Amino acid sequence: MNSIKSAGIFGLMGYLVEVETDFAPGLPRFDIVGLPDAAVRESRDRVSAAIKNCGYTLPPAKITVNLAPADLKKAGPVYDLPIFLSLLLSSGQLSRNVSECMFVGELSLSGALRPVVGVLPMVIGARDAGCKAVFVPEENAKEAAVVSGITVYGVSHINTLLAFLLGKATLSPTVYASEKAQESPFLPDFCEVKGQQGARRALEIAAAGGHNALMIGAPGAGKSMLAKRIGSILPDMTFEESIETTMIHSVAGLVDRDAPLITKRPFRAPHHTISPAGLSGGGTTVRPGEISLAHNGVLFLDELPEFSRTAMEVLRQPLEDGHVTISRVSGTVTYPCTMMVVAAMNPCPCGYYGHPTKSCTCTPKRVEQYLSRISGPLLDRLDLHIDVLPVSFDEISSSASAESSAAIKKRVDRARAIQHARFYGTDIASNAKIPPARLHQDCHMTDAAQALVKKAFDKLGLSARAYDRILKVSRTIADLSGDDVIDTRHVAEAIQYRSLDRKYFGKKS
Ligand SMILES: Nc1ncnc2c1ncn2[C@@H]1O[C@H](COP(=O)(O)OP(=O)(O)OP(=O)(O)O)[C@@H](O)[C@H]1O
Ligand SMILES: [Mg+2]
Repeated sequence: MNSIKSAGIFGLMGYLVEVETDFAPGLPRFDIVGLPDAAVRESRDRVSAAIKNCGYTLPPAKITVNLAPADLKKAGPVYDLPIFLSLLLSSGQLSRNVSECMFVGELSLSGALRPVVGVLPMVIGARDAGCKAVFVPEENAKEAAVVSGITVYGVSHINTLLAFLLGKATLSPTVYASEKAQESPFLPDFCEVKGQQGARRALEIAAAGGHNALMIGAPGAGKSMLAKRIGSILPDMTFEESIETTMIHSVAGLVDRDAPLITKRPFRAPHHTISPAGLSGGGTTVRPGEISLAHNGVLFLDELPEFSRTAMEVLRQPLEDGHVTISRVSGTVTYPCTMMVVAAMNPCPCGYYGHPTKSCTCTPKRVEQYLSRISGPLLDRLDLHIDVLPVSFDEISSSASAESSAAIKKRVDRARAIQHARFYGTDIASNAKIPPARLHQDCHMTDAAQALVKKAFDKLGLSARAYDRILKVSRTIADLSGDDVIDTRHVAEAIQYRSLDRKYFGKKS
């Protein structure tokens, strides 16, 4: 029996789907089997119409289209094209060996091809399964061409494809052209941020080690402004990171059709009204959430206390694990989510609690209620607590330009190079991801530094997790200054970034 190869996605993994058709005598009917969802079942109507409108016929028989493997759910309209071809092959209206080709695409009733989601992982899956060529809708061709080792053809109409398969017309393969990333002159840069030496230094450390950070400060202090500039000091993405991140965006249907490969670290800033599922991923057809879309980049949570408690709680485990698991009746999928969380908040509802000059109008109870919206476990995971104080008049009115993002990034890159050598041969991306088992091997400390950590641990009532995180931040601070062994000054600075939970949260003695 003739079969046509197509592809499906499970999580981020693309796998081959074989489409086969059988015609049996009996009352004319058309069934699709092999765990199809509603969109796949509707293929029947689209394909039937397209077959008629392109001048072919459906035999008056009992038609069964099988999508194998039968145990994985098939979703979306991607199988229109392979079903169309399978019907033509099995009914003898097309004779051509296409066993080394993979086909995906939605059909319009007239036979034009429409773009589909998840093309990148599907093409990777097809290549790995030994396919030599893929045929995808024209709009998806650039995305598919990112994959090397397989020929990609973009098709706009089924007739163009059939003419090519029958040798009556030519079709040029799409070749990936790595566009030079356009440097926008309006990209936010740290040179526009006046003063704020403390916050700038803390964000440099966060970027250098991939640590999570929480900025606390009065309205207009510059928290959102600082956060928007973090991307400009993060190290460049490797090709593997670009592919991973693009795969997630591909599955979510968010790939830019003209510049499909994501080469700038994502900066996702979901609104605080986002649902827990929007953050972690989910839905009836499981899609990646904001935390996965931020994979290899930054997840910015502005106005942190305004996020629902459940939304904040879903962050906890993925933050630790670097991946998120979503369970549905149809199966369990896992998406990666290795990102830096940067959060910002006011210290109280009016925003001026702890302000050096303005007085706060909130009652202590309201301040407490506001701050208690952020749970201890989440706070524990935010390694650097940054007190963003308002800039002085002299600083804001000064015409002197501050240090540029490019200059800061140079130092970040140097610290990352040290980490790269340290973690060579492992899958650890940065100091923030050192597993507990490696902490002592990677974070050599002087005796004095050790004593200082112990003192802070007792005095601040730190959790074991906070202790680990202080060591990791100290490691990054030492890397930034090119020091091999962690000393008291590195530890002292790292501890200083934990002290906000004392100043504002006052829970710990
Ligand atoms: N250090 C600074 N240098 C230059 N401009 C600044 C600085 N801080 C704040 N501004 C100006 O103030 C504006 C408001 O800052 P921003 O929105 O970042 O404040 P915020 O701390 O996020 O406030 P809110 O708590 O209300 O969200 C910025 O867009 C910028 O124009
Ligand atoms: Mg803001």
